[in-house]
Amino acid sequence: MTKTHLAAILPQKGGPFVVGERPTPEPGSNEVLIEIKAVALNPVDYNQRTLGVPPVPVYPAVIGQDAAGVVAKLGPGVASTSPELKPGTRVLALATSFYRDGLPDYGAFQQFALAQSELVIPLPDSLSFEQGAIMPLAVTTAWNAWTTINIPLNTRFTPQDNQAVLIWGGASSCGTFAIQTAKTLGFTRIYTTASPKHHAYLKSLGAHAVFDYHSPTVVSQIVNAVKHDGVILRTAHCVVNGGLQPTLDVLKETKGDAKAKVVYSPPLPPDHPTLENTEIRMNWPPLDPVERDRHFYECFHGWLKDGLRSGSVVPSPANIQVEGGGLEGLNSALEKWNAGVSGTKIVVPL
Ligand SMILES: NC(=O)c1ccc[n+]([C@@H]2O[C@H](COP(=O)([O-])OP(=O)(O)OC[C@H]3O[C@@H](n4cnc5c(N)ncnc54)[C@H](OP(=O)(O)O)[C@@H]3O)[C@@H](O)[C@H]2O)c1
Repeated sequence: MTKTHLAAILPQKGGPFVVGERPTPEPGSNEVLIEIKAVALNPVDYNQRTLGVPPVPVYPAVIGQDAAGVVAKLGPGVASTSPELKPGTRVLALATSFYRDGLPDYGAFQQFALAQSELVIPLPDSLSFEQGAIMPLAVTTAWNAWTTINIPLNTRFTPQDNQAVLIWGGASSCGTFAIQTAKTLGFTRIYTTASPKHHAYLKSLGAHAVFDYHSPTVVSQIVNAVKHDGVILRTAHCVVNGGLQPTLDVLKETKGDAKAKVVYSPPLPPDHPTLENTEIRMNWPPLDPVERDRHFYECFHGWLKDGLRSGSVVPSPANIQVEGGGLEGLNSALEKWNAGVSGTKIVVPL
């Protein structure tokens, strides 16, 4: 008899989720079947559930990206490529329904989901499932941003390079990992923007200076800091909506005659602002599937796994808002996310 489990099923575009049973899949080659214990919410989840954007080609669908749980079963090949993954191992994982046209076996919002082994790593005993669930999408987004503008993962700037970076929106979930990854890359100065209540925390993650984006003089404050610090600022990750124009305003004053590079994480509108001699690219993982899997492996099985073990990488943001109700609670939890979060990740234990 086919085993079944409960899932938050998206029956049609616009939702809402309806909790129902669906068959529990067998993991294929290189796949891990995970019993999901906690999921975190992301903008893409709200947009896919409510607006069907990015498109979900086939309904009923199961969506959801960020998960933590326990390995239920390994598919062929995983034991050799990821020997630390065994049935019973506590893990965090990026569910990849997004890359698989919304195929329901690969969405996180259900009791059992498939994930590709590149995107599954052990969760240290010191971390809760809730802490594990807040990291996967933000970590890949942060690293994808750097590779989008041709800064590979193994880049290590030296103090002699004197390279600075501007991260607009440091208090966002992705922004906190933009800061942590920028620290690994070795930028001499990491400048970011956030509300004042987050400044001390973002400095603890590795930012050197944090500026209040509500201030009418925020651009000149950053430009003055760059000049005072005597660093080269030609690189920026604009993480949040509303940050592109002020990011370009800063770079206009700091880039000199050299080319600047900006990676933009929200959807980039066709009529976006521009700046002379400045490349603006939307954040995206490598398009080639083989290259993408290699990239994901380096992000997770290299940087994140090693960093969590050594303590050089921490789950961020520190503030987790736990919402109850399990699968039944996902609709209302997404509405709470849509009402606005500040330096917080919403997590739903299953
Ligand atoms: N391209 C991709 O692959 C990809 C992947 C994931 C996410 N994204 C996109 O990345 C963006 C961030 O997602 P997220 O989940 O990290 O967001 P989030 O955590 O929900 O972001 C909330 C934070 O944004 C900050 N913020 C809002 N407007 C700001 C502004 N004008 N300047 C500076 N900070 C501002 C707020 O800071 P304060 O609290 O300080 O006010 C708040 O803490 C979204 O647009 C999302 O769609 C893209």
